Amino acid sequence: MTAADTDIVVHAEGLVKKFKDFRAVDGLDLTIERGMIYGFLGPNGCGKTTAMRMLTGLLTPTEGSVEVLGLSVPKDAEALKYKIGYMTQAFSLYGDLTVLENLRFMATIYGLSGARRKQRINEVMDRYELSDLQNRFAGRMSGGQRQRLALATAVLHEPQLLFLDEPTSAVDPESRRHFWEQLFDLIEGGTSIVVTTHFMDEAERCHKIAILEAGQKRADGAPKDLMAEMGANVVEIEGPNLRDIRRHLLDTEGIVAAAQLGARLRVLVETGIADPEAFLKARPETDGATLIERVRPNLEDVFVTATGEGRQ
Ligand SMILES: Nc1ncnc2c1ncn2[C@@H]1O[C@H](COP(=O)(O)OP(=O)(O)OP(=O)(O)O)[C@@H](O)[C@H]1O
Ligand SMILES: [Mg+2]
Repeated sequence: MTAADTDIVVHAEGLVKKFKDFRAVDGLDLTIERGMIYGFLGPNGCGKTTAMRMLTGLLTPTEGSVEVLGLSVPKDAEALKYKIGYMTQAFSLYGDLTVLENLRFMATIYGLSGARRKQRINEVMDRYELSDLQNRFAGRMSGGQRQRLALATAVLHEPQLLFLDEPTSAVDPESRRHFWEQLFDLIEGGTSIVVTTHFMDEAERCHKIAILEAGQKRADGAPKDLMAEMGANVVEIEGPNLRDIRRHLLDTEGIVAAAQLGARLRVLVETGIADPEAFLKARPETDGATLIERVRPNLEDVFVTATGEGRQ
């Protein structure tokens, strides 16, 4: 199967990036379908940016193959440039250019000219609420305003595929929600999106995600499916001495993780234990517990189970 004759926008096999002896991306296979928001979820340094840069053709893989929109990367990176948008983690704006100058500069880079250039600049300024800010220097804008300008410049040439590297890390929760609504507007308009994040709530909004750790994919799929197929059940415990209970449970066979959330201890129990509530109630350390109940898993549980982070 090739990306050219299917609805696959990204296809990567055995992708590796080595920096000296360090494998920042370590054997990544990816298939991303058209029309969806696909998220890379993972902690700092797990290789999200490195993987994304290889997909955009900006970084040459040490090993493996990448096809994006039917083009072979990095060989066809120049042709790909006009079909993708890339919002970098640092937003890559020119601080000493105004909003309008930044947009005009990017329009030139993307080869937009004449009436279309003017029309697109006005459209994105309008859509991303930049018209009133058009003479403001980018370096003098707030985090949220810079984010809107960065998105506006990334979509100026109406790319089929948009790469967003931690686009919301500098903005408040309300701007984040608003930003995600705009992403779904882009999807409705036919754009496909690849986004990196370390926010669980953002990952849950993606159609599909890949959970990355140490340059490797630990799990992938729709968040709902990942939660349903997770290899652990979730039980919450209320009562005194939760720190003590946690310490004991972390040394117990069959416990994947235990983390305190306010007045509750959230415990992940291996699915091999048929009745996790009964199992925990029978443990001597939970004698004083006032409540032990099974709850629904969330994406953070999936993340903890997939990466083995729960014992820290
Ligand atoms: N040019 C480089 N030279 C050497 N090491 C690098 C280089 N770029 C990245 N790395 C290393 O590769 C690893 C992955 O980095 P990367 O930036 O891809 O992670 P990330 O998942 O995007 O992290 P973050 O969430 O902090 O943005 C890190 O350990 C980083 O230090
Ligand atoms: Mg990064």
